Order: sequence, then structure tokens, then C-alpha cells
Amino acid sequence: MAIEIRNPSEDEWRAAMLMTSSVFGDEPNDDELERHRKMLVRERFYAAYDGDVPVGTAADFPFRLTVPGGELAAGGVTWVAVLPSHRRQGVLTKLMRRELDDLHERGDPLAVLWASEAAIYGRFGYGMAAPHFDMDADRSRFALRDDPGPRGKVRMVSLGQAVEPCMEVYERVRPTVPGFVGRNREWWETGRLADPEQWRRGASPKYVAVIELDGEPSAYAIYRVKSEWESGFPKGHVRVVEGLAATAAAERELWRFLFGIDLTVRVESRLDPASPLFLMVVDARSLQLRASEGLWLRLVDVGAALEGRSYASDDEVVVELRDAICPWNAGRWRLGRDAARTAEPAELELDVSDLACVYLGAFDFSRLAAAERVRELKQGALASADALFRTPRPPYCPEDF
Ligand SMILES: CC(C)(COP(=O)(O)OP(=O)(O)OC[C@H]1O[C@@H](n2cnc3c(N)ncnc32)[C@H](O)[C@@H]1OP(=O)(O)O)[C@@H](O)C(=O)NCCC(=O)NCCS
Repeated sequence: MAIEIRNPSEDEWRAAMLMTSSVFGDEPNDDELERHRKMLVRERFYAAYDGDVPVGTAADFPFRLTVPGGELAAGGVTWVAVLPSHRRQGVLTKLMRRELDDLHERGDPLAVLWASEAAIYGRFGYGMAAPHFDMDADRSRFALRDDPGPRGKVRMVSLGQAVEPCMEVYERVRPTVPGFVGRNREWWETGRLADPEQWRRGASPKYVAVIELDGEPSAYAIYRVKSEWESGFPKGHVRVVEGLAATAAAERELWRFLFGIDLTVRVESRLDPASPLFLMVVDARSLQLRASEGLWLRLVDVGAALEGRSYASDDEVVVELRDAICPWNAGRWRLGRDAARTAEPAELELDVSDLACVYLGAFDFSRLAAAERVRELKQGALASADALFRTPRPPYCPEDF
């Protein structure tokens, strides 16, 4: 099968996007197609062609990703799909090859994605970099421990009014949490605060509550309510699209609000692994947290990625890195403030996908070694590498893309 990978021309966009949508069982209307078209960047949108028929796509958004101590350019990989007739014949592999080569050439040191299935991307050098919890909490058991009582004020705002306060809270948090992605106003308006009918899936429109403490927006909840009744009793669900708080006090008020919504029995939300909620409630079990592997990260340019993050100690550790997909990364690297290629003897040996697991601070080298994914060649190197990569908090990615 001769497959060609290229950027679709203007005339070919629609057919390529419709193909991708069909893979996910979606039938976008013209408004929705236009919305996607505006968000996608032409030279970062790839299609695989069998003759003139699009049979696969992949794209990436030009993100700025918060990393420990700073931020770096990262391709936000999305729109990955291959037509059922052409699966398991190497089409995705060809798309990934082209995309990684282009990211490298363009100088984006990182790529990130959400996987539809966890088994797909490890082979391309991606690693689990920012796991989170999915919460499906029993509202009837919700109670805050050591509760000082409600503080501040909750304001319900329209989606249009929500842009400013949401951006304000988000920008307070973003630089401090590895895994966050920069959002401009357009991204807010066409993404998080957009509300096309087909996104609702049987639930209400998006509502936004802004929590003000000391007169300042300090948290927000973007959510839907899925209304249900059984035998005359309400059994609705609160579906949190995004909840974010800039302080611990604001976090308490955020959850007090969401768990206080009448006619509902469950509160569903993605949860930051560092969220204090688990420790703030009387009955942590009732939150029903399920671990998810979360955001996947690929170090496209290991040198730039290592230079672009901070380190928590003055130590140095030399690693022998395997990278079968991006051979320009393979070889020996010194980790630390003077990160660079080196000829010194290696103290640890690992794959580039394992380095991705520790890069944002989700895991440490010792934990990977316990899973036999990192090999310690010099005694003490694991402990030194752990200390070097230590971060004040685990990463978290609130973005969907
Ligand atoms: C996932 C998908 C893009 C894979 O495309 P594909 O062209 O079949 O992938 P390839 O043929 O290049 O597969 C490369 C390797 O990955 C493996 N692989 C592909 N999809 C896989 C999956 N879903 N689970 C496990 N392994 C998978 C293949 O078996 C192959 O392994 P091998 O090299 O050992 O033979 C395609 O199945 C698809 O469109 N699925 C539905 C949409 C989707 O889930 N998209 C991803 C969104 S994040």
C-alpha cells in the first residue's frame, strides 16, 4: 500500500476532518468544522493519503507547556485517527514519524497528548508524565473536616463574562504547575468556554461559578448538570468540566459549592493529584478516586528539554539513553544544571519514554527502577537523580485537546 503523508491543501481539509470525525463517531456540522479549522495550524495538520483518499490524520497545536522552573514549546498532539479499513498497516507509524521529524526541525523540544488507549504511544517514546484522578463522588457523604465555615462569595456568570475571571485564576496557577498549557483568549472562547450543542451529551449547557475571596476571583468551576429522576427522587450528576482554585481556602469553597448543588447525587471531576480535597473531607473514600495515566509526554529534543527545566540539587548524573525512534537523542547525557552530551561513564540506563515519566515530576527514578525500567550502573545514582529532579508538587494537566 503506497501511503503519502502531507499537509492537506485548502480544498482537502474538509474531507480529512470529516474522516477523522467519523473515526470517533462524530458528525460535525459546518460551525464545528469551522471551529476546528480555526484552531488547527496548516503546517501542523497531517493526513495520510491512499491515492487521493484521506485514510489517517494527526495534528499538533503549538503549546507552551509549564515545566519545572519554566515553560517550553510543546506540540499538543491531536486528531490522531486511521480509517478502519487501513488500520494495523503502519499508517499511524508513518504519521508519527513525520510529525516527530517536523517538531524536531521546528525546534519544539516536547510533544504531549492524551491517549484514547494507553497502549498506543509508548512505542513512539511517549511516557506517562502527569497522571491524575477521575473522581465520581457520592454527594450525600460529603462533609468538610475542621470546617471554618463558608468564606467569600460565589457569582454565577455567563460564558462571555467568565473569560476574564477564569483567565485571571488560571494565570495565577499556570506558572506553578508543570503540565499546564498556555491559553490565549481565543483558546478560552473557542475551547473551555465554548458550548456547542453536540458537546453536551444529554447534560445541561455549561455553567460557570466564580468564587471570590477578599474581592478577588480565586477559583472557578465550569460545569454541567445531568438531570435524572428515579421514583420521584432527584438523581442528577454534576459534571465538572474544569474546576481550578488559586489557594487552599478557594479550593475549599470551590468544592463546597459543587457538592452543594441541589437535585444531584454525584459529582464527577478530573482531580489534580496534589488537590487538597482528599485531605479536606471527612470521608475520603466517598470521593471514589480512580487513577488515570493522564498526560503523555515525548522528549523530542532531549538536549533542549534538559536545559529548559530546573534542578533541585547541584548534583550531576550521567545517563545512557535509548531512543529507537528519534536517534538524535540516543547516547550519553549529563543530567543537572550543566545538562549536555558527555563521554563520561554512564551511571543510569533508561529509555527516553522513562525520562518522560520523571521529566515533569510525576515519578522518580527509584520508582521506575523498582518497576525494572531504569538500571542503576553506579550505586547511589538513583538517589542523586531523584534529588536532582525533585519538584515541589506533582504535575497536572487540566487541558483537553
Ligand atoms: C490507534 C490508531 C490510530 C492506530 O493506527 P494504525 O495505523 O492501526 O497503527 P499502526 O499500524 O501504525 O500501528 C503501530 C503499532 O501500534 C500497535 N497499535 C496500534 N493501535 C493500537 C491500539 N489501539 N492498541 C494497542 N496497540 C496498537 C500496532 O499493533 C502496531 O504494533 P507493531 O508495530 O508491534 O505491529 C487507529 O487504530 C485508530 O484510529 N483508532 C481509533 C481512534 C483512536 O483511538 N485514535 C487515537 C486517539 S489518541
